[in-house]
Amino acid sequence: MAAHFGMIGLGTMGRNLILNVADHGFEACGYDRDPAQQKRLLPEAKDKLVKAAASLPEFIDSLKTPRVIMLLVPAGKIVDNVLTDLLPLVQEGDIIIDGGNSHFIDTERRYQQLQNSGVHFIGMGVSGGDEGARFGPSLMPGGNKESYELVKDILEAVAAKSDEGPCVTFIGNTAAGHYTKMVHNGIEYAIMQLISEVYGVLKKAGQFNNEELHDLFAKWNETELQSFLVEITAGVFLKKDDDTGKDLVDMILDKAKQKGTGMWTSQSAMDLNVPIPVIDAAVSMRYLSALKEERVKNSRLHSFNGVKNTVGKDQLARVCKNALHFGFLLSYAQGLQLLSVASAQYNYGVSIAEVLRVWKGGCIIRSALLNDLRKAYLRDSSLANIISSPLFQPVLDECRKDAVTLLKLAMDNNLPAASLAASLHYFDAYITDRLPANLIQAQRDYFGAHTYERIDKTGVFHAEWESKSPLAAPLQKPKGD
Ligand code: 6PG
Repeated sequence: MAAHFGMIGLGTMGRNLILNVADHGFEACGYDRDPAQQKRLLPEAKDKLVKAAASLPEFIDSLKTPRVIMLLVPAGKIVDNVLTDLLPLVQEGDIIIDGGNSHFIDTERRYQQLQNSGVHFIGMGVSGGDEGARFGPSLMPGGNKESYELVKDILEAVAAKSDEGPCVTFIGNTAAGHYTKMVHNGIEYAIMQLISEVYGVLKKAGQFNNEELHDLFAKWNETELQSFLVEITAGVFLKKDDDTGKDLVDMILDKAKQKGTGMWTSQSAMDLNVPIPVIDAAVSMRYLSALKEERVKNSRLHSFNGVKNTVGKDQLARVCKNALHFGFLLSYAQGLQLLSVASAQYNYGVSIAEVLRVWKGGCIIRSALLNDLRKAYLRDSSLANIISSPLFQPVLDECRKDAVTLLKLAMDNNLPAASLAASLHYFDAYITDRLPANLIQAQRDYFGAHTYERIDKTGVFHAEWESKSPLAAPLQKPKGD
């Protein structure tokens, strides 16, 4: 049999995706340098149109031309190594899809390199974890439209389906697919952080036990907060630990790990001068959580006698729900703004409304809110930020009140809520006509003659400020010594 589709990298994601491809009637062949991974595929692929190749040349020979070869290997050097091995074996017109979480700058480089050799290269974000890969991921392919058209049928078949069709489209030029997936992950970090902050308040200030937390998140999942992350959070609270019989969530160490995609989102936003503080705080809080030993020591050094929560459980639950709604919306707002700015800067040609459609099924940040967001971008494709959309004015203004209530409560109880606080400050700054940034401009002009603009006339100005104190002024002796 000559296969329609080849997969390099037979880890769980690769194996599941190849089975998904075969389920849709496409013959597929898999290859992994590690024979153990191949062995795992064969029993799973029993009775399916799937085979495994023992070597790279055998793999190449088993594919129909033009060959469609997808890589699902760890991002970074390994992708380059696989491409180096692959390039002498493929021919002009073949299509290589990198489906890992590659950094968009690497994808840009690889795209240009492969363009010169006549091989199609598609950098494709794949979201949905193991289960998504098996039964329908959200797919974000980028590169060029012509390459996409060659694989469109397979991708549409394997992708998740929403009420608006397959969760895949041509996302945009060169590295647009991986950039979009990176932003997806930045939003994922923010939403997960917000949920964990609310969990902290409900558990510590509200004294909610795990069963109550399960019930609450399950109930929220029937409301406008309906989303994959809220749904699985409800599920987390039910799981028992096999070793101890206790609730598993209580046995898990409070150090959050990361593979780097959230950090890349923050780095890119800094490069493009786009404020995304909710995502930044989520990334930083993962680093802070990792400082477990220091945190434990510090907790003994700084004793805190906070006021206890005085809000009843029902009211607290209501406040938390609206605060989450507020934070979720602003997480999407920031990610989407970053994506539009990046698209303009790098000529990706991304349609935000289409990205939102592709995220409706299969991916980790799928949620009911995507429908509302999509409406706003369908109405105005050049919308800079949903804060400026009349569609979101009532809900943001209403939910802001509960975000404030929750933050006051968190502060009074010594419970950190960095992403929620960042949501509030970001929103408040974005709706403020005159910020105190005039003072920063005055300071810059004072110490560095950096100039300032004025409110009453155009142009650039510099003032003669009072003379400064000497740079190496002696320290003043404290009074009373
Ligand atoms: C997805 C996820 C996935 C990501 C993991 C872990 O969309 O399926 O975003 O791609 O790799 O969620 O990410 P971290 O290890 O960085 O938390």
